[in-house]
Amino acid sequence: MIKKNLSINTAKKGATIKKEIYGHFSEHLGRCIYGGIYVGEDSDIPNTRGLRNDVLQALKDLAIPVLRWPGGCFADEYHWRNGIGPKNERVTMINTNWGGVTEDNSFGTHEFMDLCDLIGCEPYISGNVGSGTVREMSEWIEYITSGNISPMTDLRKENGREEPWHLKYLGIGNENWGCGGFMTPEYYANQYRQFQQFCKDYGDNKLFKIACGPNGDDTAWTEKLMSMINPMIAGAISLHFYTIPTGNWNDKGNATGFSEELYHRTIRETRRISPIIESHLAVMDRYDPEHRIGLCVDEWGCWYNVEEGTNPGFLYQQNTMRDAIVASVNLNIFNNRADRIVMANIAQVVNVLQSVILTEGPKMLKTPTYHVFSMYKDHQGSTLVESLMSDSTFDHEGISYPDLSVSSSVKEDGTLFVTLSNANLKESYQINTLIDAAYKKAEARILTGGMDDHNTFENPDAVADVAYNGVTLQGDSAEITLPPCSVVTVTFKK
Ligand code: AHR
Repeated sequence: MIKKNLSINTAKKGATIKKEIYGHFSEHLGRCIYGGIYVGEDSDIPNTRGLRNDVLQALKDLAIPVLRWPGGCFADEYHWRNGIGPKNERVTMINTNWGGVTEDNSFGTHEFMDLCDLIGCEPYISGNVGSGTVREMSEWIEYITSGNISPMTDLRKENGREEPWHLKYLGIGNENWGCGGFMTPEYYANQYRQFQQFCKDYGDNKLFKIACGPNGDDTAWTEKLMSMINPMIAGAISLHFYTIPTGNWNDKGNATGFSEELYHRTIRETRRISPIIESHLAVMDRYDPEHRIGLCVDEWGCWYNVEEGTNPGFLYQQNTMRDAIVASVNLNIFNNRADRIVMANIAQVVNVLQSVILTEGPKMLKTPTYHVFSMYKDHQGSTLVESLMSDSTFDHEGISYPDLSVSSSVKEDGTLFVTLSNANLKESYQINTLIDAAYKKAEARILTGGMDDHNTFENPDAVADVAYNGVTLQGDSAEITLPPCSVVTVTFKK
């Protein structure tokens, strides 16, 4: 057992942890929308207006705050008018990014807004800059949010929706440095300025506009973009960072059956997001010293080789305890930067990359990553407080990184919530935690297992969080035991 110290200072308050940090992403990619979320009204799978009931319930239980759609790369080839009106009249298209399959557009604006209403989350729409027009995006916003009399609102009413919807989050393009048009930062920034100008605020609806930010560590993109936008026209810029264990796009490593070496490379690689975030914030600070433009990590997570026998364009992968540790480490990093991170969206919600849900026909399972999001949800809307952990850097046969990760927040009623993980596969940690002596009760939960443990459709609850008695409280100190490869949450009450 390795001993470490943690000091939690509830008097040292930080920013509010925006609930949107616990956001998700749903693209027309593989079986995310079709089969995973939407099965159509005639399906034998129990559904509400075509949306599968089991997935709706699981997402509601997770209290997901915001859902991004329709892409991803798909966003910059999506033409919204193809996805409205009677389904049998909707024109089809080829999904050129993802498997070359035919998209029948049966899931469009109305279905997405219905999904968000049923889950109770904010919609986040990514508009098409790469192959769309200013007018097309402008009219989409009018169609969705205007309560006036106009051709767009008449069209919406004809399609069965009388009242405008509320839409806050609008992305102007996606990865415009890549699949969204291979633009230079100057060219994109000019496009951004023009497109955003014609996306209007109708009635009470106020858009929060998000510009396409950098890929990974590309601070040159951030520099140019920040020099050409300002807080009057942008609420945030995005950042995309995927964890690829091998660092090689041609062979990323498998989602299951991996070596201990690859496990450690994954955790070390995922931790790189922290210095990358800091490097972009340093650039942003120079142009926006008052911090009026936020950072929105609207794609993050692990990206592995696809499961054998599945369509390579569908990005379907299993999800293990390794992913749970990755989720825990990233969410703690985001919480600890709650002053600047306004949103984060793990990629993607169902059946694609680091999903919280997997489906197979009528069957559904919650992945280890789902359980981490579920365990962490009490951070949403709470106030970050200082948590200082002693250094836990550990050498895993040549691969060094800190084993421990932590973040803490307090609720208005004073409840203290602490989330921790131990990435070490062999060593337990005993954390001697200094807290306010006013806390008299502690309740904990744990998610733990072997690095490769995962849920299957035959055994969907093999990995799940359970109540944990590894925390003892005495005066102003708590002993928290973290077994190898574990995620632990502790709620302290007065
Ligand atoms: O999430 C899968 C893809 O990754 C998205 O479509 C794109 O934005 C990113 O490259």
